[in-house]
Amino acid sequence: MSNDSTTSTNTTLQLLDLTIDNITKNVKLVNSQTPNTRLKFLMEKLVDYLHNYVRETRPTIEEFNETMKFLAECGHMCTNVRQEFVLLSDILGVSVLVDALNNPKPTNATESTVLGPFYTDDAQDVANGDSIASPGKGEICLVLATIKDTKGNPIEGAKIDVWETDSNGRYDNQYDERDRPDMRGRLTSNKNGEFFFKCVKPVSYPISSDGPAGKLLETLHRPARRPAHIHFRIYAPNSTYDDLVTALYIRGDPYESNDAVFGVKKSLIVDVGKVEDASLAKKYDVNEQDWLIRYNFVLTTRDETQALLTMPTAD
Ligand SMILES: [Fe+2]
Repeated sequence: MSNDSTTSTNTTLQLLDLTIDNITKNVKLVNSQTPNTRLKFLMEKLVDYLHNYVRETRPTIEEFNETMKFLAECGHMCTNVRQEFVLLSDILGVSVLVDALNNPKPTNATESTVLGPFYTDDAQDVANGDSIASPGKGEICLVLATIKDTKGNPIEGAKIDVWETDSNGRYDNQYDERDRPDMRGRLTSNKNGEFFFKCVKPVSYPISSDGPAGKLLETLHRPARRPAHIHFRIYAPNSTYDDLVTALYIRGDPYESNDAVFGVKKSLIVDVGKVEDASLAKKYDVNEQDWLIRYNFVLTTRDETQALLTMPTAD
């Protein structure tokens, strides 16, 4: 939003006896004094939907007070590492909706999903074939992946940030004693567009449920859990490719269709099987009984994304 400090004078403003029927129009009129057309549009829609919600549901005074108290509790819960409003947006499906609207993809491209709160930018470079996890963090899992464009051309030199939890379902930055990045790393695709690494087999994990968002989930009889997944942020520096933030989900997870933050998409669900093949195990320095995930990522160009983006405008 712009920081315009000037406001236009709207001479149509007048004092009204506000009623259930004219309050919406009047609030919109007062807000329309801003010269910022995007802000004006956003506020018009917000007031329209908010007022209609109130008119249609007619909250009691007690319910209204409870709602204000709930929002205040969300605010009190926030710190620089705990964002309760983001969590609230997540569990209401707003975060994934905003992500989907801003990252439309052609049908043959990899879909995006929410970044989540545990991304950090301090992941260390990991050579293809190495492990992103220190020993003892869980069952070893080999990931073999490629990155191509929508025409099937391999993309060399793409950077891939990968992060996941340990087998206890906790990210490294959920441990107070964290002294360096773990269960996360930054890989680079080779000339064939391939990247490959070892990690730990993903597990489902609880989201932070000790605050008002958690209480809301409990009241709604919803699990405060996310299905097992690995996060990926893929970007090709100095290229025309659009950044991709996504995740791979393990097929058959009990929370696959009941993800607390609605991040799962069918195209992002993968099978996790055993390596089994002796030559494959030797090639990637794993055991035949270790786990294996394969996936082919497809990036769009920024022009391809732009062509699919639509922006609503004021009537
Ligand atoms: Fe996650």
